Amino acid sequence: MSHEVVEKNVGLLAVIIFLVVSVGGLVEIVPLFFLKSTTQPVEGVEPYSPLRLAGRDIYIREGCYVCHSQMIRPFRAETERYGHYSVAGEFVYDHPFQWGSKRTGPDLARVGGRYSDQWHRIHLINPRDVVPDSVMPGFPWLAKNKLDPSLIQRKMRVMNKLISMTCNGCRTYTEEEIANAPKQLEGKTEMDALIAYLQGLGTDIKTRR
Ligand code: HEC
Repeated sequence: MSHEVVEKNVGLLAVIIFLVVSVGGLVEIVPLFFLKSTTQPVEGVEPYSPLRLAGRDIYIREGCYVCHSQMIRPFRAETERYGHYSVAGEFVYDHPFQWGSKRTGPDLARVGGRYSDQWHRIHLINPRDVVPDSVMPGFPWLAKNKLDPSLIQRKMRVMNKLISMTCNGCRTYTEEEIANAPKQLEGKTEMDALIAYLQGLGTDIKTRR
């Protein structure tokens, strides 16, 4: 009887659905804020070096995430192919994270160290030169564009804010690191930065066969 009342009253039904979904959502989400495994860095995970931080921005600017995920799921088929599955504590310095869901190309969460810098250089300029059937577009301009060192200090300060807001047990950039950052980018191309970023991906947990 009382159920009929709810079913015949759209407003009441909406309110009750809202309450149920809210409670359900909170029960799933809130514990994650207190779990160490989701808020603490995995041992050895460090903030991105200035060059890698700049490379990460190029990864985002060029839309690499449109075709590549960075999230290895804990399934045999995935771990055999890519290595250890991804864990939350690896992403504490990623703002925003690049997990993605679309895999036109392979997952990149553990691509670091799998190829040489030279391989990446050739591959990024024209993927067909190393993988004949590749449908990945080339990004030849990255080799010509020089990095702009004037932006990096601000980026690091913003990162520091985001890190301290979201992660306890994480380390922020020191004033010395921020002061030295522009020097490390001088004369580097966008390609150098992107490759440095790729070569570090997933190397904190290294159990690839
Ligand atoms: C249109 C989709 C597409 C976009 C955009 C794209 N890729 Fe790819 N990528 C692929 C495909 C497909 C492959 C597999 C064939 C190959 O190796 O070229 C691949 C392979 C790769 C590999 C080798 C991975 C491995 O494990 O063998 C790397 C590294 C890579 N891409 C990096 C990038 C980066 C960095 C960008 C952005 C600058 C990017 N990709 C943009 C589709 C894409």
